[in-house]
Amino acid sequence: MKQTILITGGAGYIGSHTCLEFLAAGHDIVVFDNLCNSSLESLRRVKELSGREFPFVAADIRDRAALDALFKTYAIDAVIHFAGLKAVGESVEKPLLYYDNNIAGSITLFEAMQAAGVKTVVFSSSATVYGDPASVPIREDFPVGATTNPYGRGKLIVEQILGDLAISDPEWRIALLRYFNPVGAHKSGRIGEDPRGIPNNLMPYIAQVAVGRREYLNVWGNDYPTPDGTGVRDYIHVVDLAQGHVKAVEKLAAGPGVRIWNLGTGCGYSVVEMAQAFEKASGHPVPYQFAPRRAGDIAQCWADPALAERELGWKARRGLDEMCEDTWRWQSLNPQGFEE
Ligand code: NAD
Ligand code: UFG
Repeated sequence: MKQTILITGGAGYIGSHTCLEFLAAGHDIVVFDNLCNSSLESLRRVKELSGREFPFVAADIRDRAALDALFKTYAIDAVIHFAGLKAVGESVEKPLLYYDNNIAGSITLFEAMQAAGVKTVVFSSSATVYGDPASVPIREDFPVGATTNPYGRGKLIVEQILGDLAISDPEWRIALLRYFNPVGAHKSGRIGEDPRGIPNNLMPYIAQVAVGRREYLNVWGNDYPTPDGTGVRDYIHVVDLAQGHVKAVEKLAAGPGVRIWNLGTGCGYSVVEMAQAFEKASGHPVPYQFAPRRAGDIAQCWADPALAERELGWKARRGLDEMCEDTWRWQSLNPQGFEE
């Protein structure tokens, strides 16, 4: 059934790829974003790639009047809520900003939804809610709560707020999607991750080393209890992740309640394996040097994605080589990101 989906944060990295997947699945979309970490150019390219037009509202999720006006103008069936700040280190320096933007902003959005009678939401949560897991792979029923920074705590608090909302009003249909490490880019090389300043995350940093923007990669720690001593993560192609959102919205149509799904591949790769895979995919060297551990990092983290496969009929299909090739295509075609 065709639906009209509001995508908050739809101009960002995961949001822009998700816009394309909803359009490809035949749905209509409305994008809401204050562009604090993205540009209009990503949405222009989504329109170009999809051959579809859609409305864009430039506003902040903390702006209740802007949200009310949107819900009056468009008959929204479901909301995908990506809008938020995501830099872990910055969240330690500016906790109030993160709590205001990510928690107060989410509350304002849910209030506006409730007032408009729109009670279906998919929330971008994160594997960070599991903290340092006692074992891997991580299942959805593992304990949550041992988060190490304001960003992660914000994710957990919004999950809990949504849980309380579902208890107060059993009409709500809520999906909490716990992403592992999104990487990669659309096949076209037209949209991808465009971090501002020095990238915090591994894959965009590696890509900037390969393209010659940075000299070498710092590998944060080589004394972890992992096969090669460097941190292991579950990297998932952003297009697989985006498709998981379409499946989640379709599943929520089946009934109310809160559902939690890990979106990961079930495979873990080390930092050194990532650098080597990127060298192979790009044909460019990725020199690295070992440096001390980064505060707050854990040794290893990967998903058990079986629940999403069973309940959503969704499975990540794109492997590590494709993640690196697609990142490289985006990076080499757009060495300065969306700034042409
Ligand atoms: P992104 O920064 O590219 O996208 C977020 C978008 O939200 C941006 O376009 C930004 O301009 C917008 N935004 C931020 N605050 C806003 C506000 N107050 N009002 C309106 N718009 C606002 O980040 P992304 O990687 O696409 O992440 C999307 C979501 O997924 C975030 O909630 C993030 O926390 C979550 N997530 C990301 C990762 C990751 O590694 N990328 C992992 C787990 C969870
Ligand atoms: N790493 C380096 N050098 C770098 C960057 C990263 O060695 O320059 C290492 C890290 O130490 C870690 C791995 O590469 O072992 C991945 O680091 P990222 O920063 O790319 O990702 P994280 O797993 O630390 O965090 C990501 C998101 C968080 C999210 C978390 C769990 O950034 O928002 O996954 O889903 F909470």
